[in-house]
Amino acid sequence: MSIAIAPYRSPLRAAPLRDVAAPLVVNVGIVGPGKVGTALLAQLRAATPRLLRDCRLELRLRAVCDSRHMWLDCDDEALNGRLHGAQTWRPTELDEFAAYVAGEHGEAAVLADCSASDLVADRYAGWLGAGIHVVTPNKRAASGPVDRWRHIRAAADASGARLHYEGTVGAGLPVVQTLRDLLDTGDELMAVEGMLSGTLAWLLNRFDGSVPFSVLVREAHDMGYTEPDARDDLSGMDVARKLVILAREAGVALSLDDVAVRSLVPEALAHGSRDAFMAGLAALDEPMAAMLAEAREAGGVLRHVARFDGRQGSVGVRVVDRDHAFAHAHLTDNVVRFATRRYCDNALVVQGPGAGPEVTAAAVFTDLLRVAGAMGVKRCAC
Ligand SMILES: NC(=O)c1ccc[n+]([C@@H]2O[C@H](COP(=O)([O-])OP(=O)(O)OC[C@H]3O[C@@H](n4cnc5c(N)ncnc54)[C@H](OP(=O)(O)O)[C@@H]3O)[C@@H](O)[C@H]2O)c1
Repeated sequence: MSIAIAPYRSPLRAAPLRDVAAPLVVNVGIVGPGKVGTALLAQLRAATPRLLRDCRLELRLRAVCDSRHMWLDCDDEALNGRLHGAQTWRPTELDEFAAYVAGEHGEAAVLADCSASDLVADRYAGWLGAGIHVVTPNKRAASGPVDRWRHIRAAADASGARLHYEGTVGAGLPVVQTLRDLLDTGDELMAVEGMLSGTLAWLLNRFDGSVPFSVLVREAHDMGYTEPDARDDLSGMDVARKLVILAREAGVALSLDDVAVRSLVPEALAHGSRDAFMAGLAALDEPMAAMLAEAREAGGVLRHVARFDGRQGSVGVRVVDRDHAFAHAHLTDNVVRFATRRYCDNALVVQGPGAGPEVTAAAVFTDLLRVAGAMGVKRCAC
């Protein structure tokens, strides 16, 4: 791919020569001012003065774009508060957007992709190859086609640009970096097992047979706990993507097709409109009631569990013992258990709320600061 972005010197190589008295300027572009992107804009706006004062880091918001509009040079508070209509815009052209954020004077540049778009993920290799860092909660690149992922990683390796994606698996929970740190320090992953969907955790925590499962799905949908199309949660595909990301982090080139996914969506409702699915929700009730009865018979509870054993992945509802850690997770908690050579008798567990725009935006922001940290910026006041 050829894109019109000025050559960019690797910040890693430049780091030791940086004049620490002068602020490090980092141009920032945000793709996708939806729920997470809007929360990130607010967090950036609130933190920017402190980062400049305490860390000598000057974050310059250069541009924001959604799928149709791009707003360039949008460092204006009113604009960031409400994008549409606040400033003239031009149609989105992603490479033009990236070139604008990169600037013309060799500044460091970071693109935060807060979309869920494959079209945006398709651009990562070009951006990283041109020295632009990418931080993202978008799962598409890290769980999409293996060839594209290899191409993206190779582009980052070649230029020294960084790609961070902590928010893809546990939203604000430190899951990807925890695994990375284990592996980088010589540990070996034997298995990872987890409850990786806050929505399914909430549904199965609440499902005790007193009301039909479909009523709980409708309630979760009305409260905004599910994706707009609840099938994205119930099919298990979102969880499968997270499992693929963890497997690849551990060096195994797993694909979505390799994961055995047991969907909760009946085949007859899998392909119609969202409205048709919601209207037919009652079709889930009988199979779910049967699963609940089976769990009770076995003295256990139902939980949605993802597992990667080092070679193969599986995702679906399982019966777990009442004293299993997964049986005691709260509300929308995600739980990730890493069994490694070091943590073999007692797995390393990361647990907490695994969804929400605020915490996800904070993970993206942390990734951005990690990029700045690699350029020699200190993270704390002193
Ligand atoms: N929300 C959470 O709690 C959570 C948790 C963990 C991870 N995530 C991940 O974070 C990402 C954002 O989630 P969200 O809840 O903020 O979604 P959202 O509210 O639907 O926002 C998505 C944004 O992406 C934009 N977009 C879509 N396609 C685009 C394209 N081709 N080019 C540029 N912009 C494009 C959309 O713009 P239009 O309006 O023009 O379509 C919208 O502004 C997703 O990848 C999601 O999986 C979210």
